[in-house]
Parts: sequence; C-alpha cells; structure tokens
Amino acid sequence: MFPEKIEKSFELNLEAIQLLQNALDSSFLDAYTENVENQIDHFQVRVIDGVPNEETTKKIEALYQQLQEISLEDEEIRKLSQLLLLKGGRTEKLQPNHQLTPDGIGFLFVYLIEQLYPQKGKLAVLDVAAGMGNLLLTVLLNLQLAKYEPKGYGVDIDETLLSVAAATSDWTHADVQLFHQDGLQDLLADPMDVVISDLPVGYYPHDEKASKFLTAVEEEHSFAHHLLMEQAMNYVKENSFGLFLVPSNFLETQQSAALKKLFVEKAYLQAIIQLPDELFKNEASRKSIVILQQKGEHAQQASEVLVAKLATLKEPTKVAEFFKQFEAWKASNL
Ligand SMILES: C[S@@+](CC[C@H](N)C(=O)[O-])C[C@H]1O[C@@H](n2cnc3c(N)ncnc32)[C@H](O)[C@@H]1O
Repeated sequence: MFPEKIEKSFELNLEAIQLLQNALDSSFLDAYTENVENQIDHFQVRVIDGVPNEETTKKIEALYQQLQEISLEDEEIRKLSQLLLLKGGRTEKLQPNHQLTPDGIGFLFVYLIEQLYPQKGKLAVLDVAAGMGNLLLTVLLNLQLAKYEPKGYGVDIDETLLSVAAATSDWTHADVQLFHQDGLQDLLADPMDVVISDLPVGYYPHDEKASKFLTAVEEEHSFAHHLLMEQAMNYVKENSFGLFLVPSNFLETQQSAALKKLFVEKAYLQAIIQLPDELFKNEASRKSIVILQQKGEHAQQASEVLVAKLATLKEPTKVAEFFKQFEAWKASNL
C-alpha cells in the first residue's frame, strides 16, 4: 500500500493528465510529460493557441492547487510517476519492449550495486536503453538515499519515452543526462562506474552496424540485447560492473555462441540471478539479472559463477536468504 498522500496525488495527477490528453488530442505519455512540465513550471498550465481552452485550463488549475498542498520526497514522486505510467501503459497497451522496469526489480539492482560498490562516493551510472527512466531513477534516487553521489546517463532510441524520462528526472530532481540516439552508436561520454539496463529483446535490423560487434551473427539479424550488452561494457571503467536484465534462456538460444565470445574476450560473466517466476506471465518471458565485470588489474573470472534463483519478492525471509547467498558468494569470489 502507498501512503495516502501518494494515492491522493495519483488521483489528482491522473485527472489532470486525462484532461490534457483530451484537450491536446495526444497520447497518454505526451499528456503525462505535459502535466509534469506544467508542475515544474510552478504549476502553470501551458496554453498554446488557445489549447487547452479556458474551461479545461481552470479545471486543471484547480487540481494543481490541491497538488501544491501535497509535499512529496523525490523518491515518492518517482513512485507516483511509476503508478501513473503503469496506469497509462494499461490503457495504451505498450509493447513489452517499451514497458517500464518495475521498482521491485529496480530495488534488486540497487542492492546489487551497493554490494559491488561498498565505497560510497561519486558513481556514474549509465543505462543504454533507459526508456521512461524508471529503472535508472529507482537506482539513482535510492543510491542517493544510501548516501552515494550518483550521476545518471541514459540513452534511448525512442523520443517519446525519453521525453517521459526527462520530465520525470526533472520532477524528481535527479542528476541525469539523456541522449536520444541508437544505443549502438558511439556515445559521447566518459567511462562509467557502472552500467545497467533492462534490455530490449529482439532482432537489431541494421546488420552492417551490428557487424563490428563480437556478439553479431551472420546468418540472420543479431540480437539487440546481445549487441547492447556488449556496447554497454565498452563504456564501463576497468574492473567495473554491468548489470543487465535479459531473457533467462540467454545461454540457450541460436545466438548464444556469439554472446559467449563477449564473456571470453571482453568481460567476465560473474553472476546469473534468475528472477521469481511470479513476475512474468509465462516461461518464455522470464528474465534474469546478469552481472558482467570489465577486465582489469583487479578483476578476474569468479572461480564459481553465481547461478541463483530468487524464489519470490513477496516473502522477506526468502529475499534475505538470497542476500545471504549473494554476500557469501561475493566474499569468496570477487
Ligand atoms: C524494457 S525498455 C526499458 C525500460 C526502462 N528500464 C524503464 O524503466 O523505463 C527497453 C528500451 O530499449 C529501447 N531501445 C530499443 N532499441 C534500442 C536501441 N537500439 N538503442 C537504444 N535503446 C533502444 C526501447 O525504446 C525501450 O525504451
């Protein structure tokens, strides 16, 4: 359950978004972005060429007046944004590759990053397929609460999703730089401390661009999630980690042999954490978090690759058991 103020805020925001969506004749996501931008702009309704009309503008202003009285912390705003975007995803039927990463999974990323980077301080975090930014913001805001000083970088090929990410980043006061580009194109950024992503699953259509990657295949289009994982590891510092959400069968497909070249030649595959079945509709959609480590003076292949299955996120004792298992593995392998 969410605190009452988040629920109240959710209802008011949803109504404002729906009013904007009708007035602007736009998608839910565009209306979401407009609504957030209005609130950042001191709760003023942006009117262009008489749209929204006076009557709608007044209605939205009345909602904003109530919203101004509710004070939310940045992480609470992110939770609110997640609720709104999940609601929008239901009405707009977003394709699976465009859905946001729920924070149940995001919190696991936070835990793993805290484990892998025990020294608190500055941390540059890149998401190569940031989408609406929920995973990146869950990580950044919760690392900040844990006293890190994170700076986020997000890439995505989809302009609408990235506009949502930009609006929510501003709304939550997160320090994020976003790049609207194909994640496989060169990125103008310094090497990162950690790379993360809930990768888009499927074929990458541009064979020529794919061909410069180790994980490319010749017989058909290469898997985008393999190429992007390799690309992300090009942007992480030596000895540093990449954490990726990938299909659980990633070692058993017709393109796995090409992916394995990445683990032999460029980065160590250190851990595979299968997420609970309850999170996914069917066996084919199950996902795992894989942890890769960039080669370097202080990195080596773990003598035992962690292969763990998290039974559930609903029972704290089961989650605690997994944490114990991870910490024991880390102590003897990293
Ligand atoms: C599962 S979604 C990521 C969701 C995101 N973690 C969030 O919480 O909103 C996968 C994303 O990959 C993006 N994508 C697909 N192909 C891409 C490419 N070649 N380069 C960059 N992003 C890409 C999609 O636009 C989509 O936003």
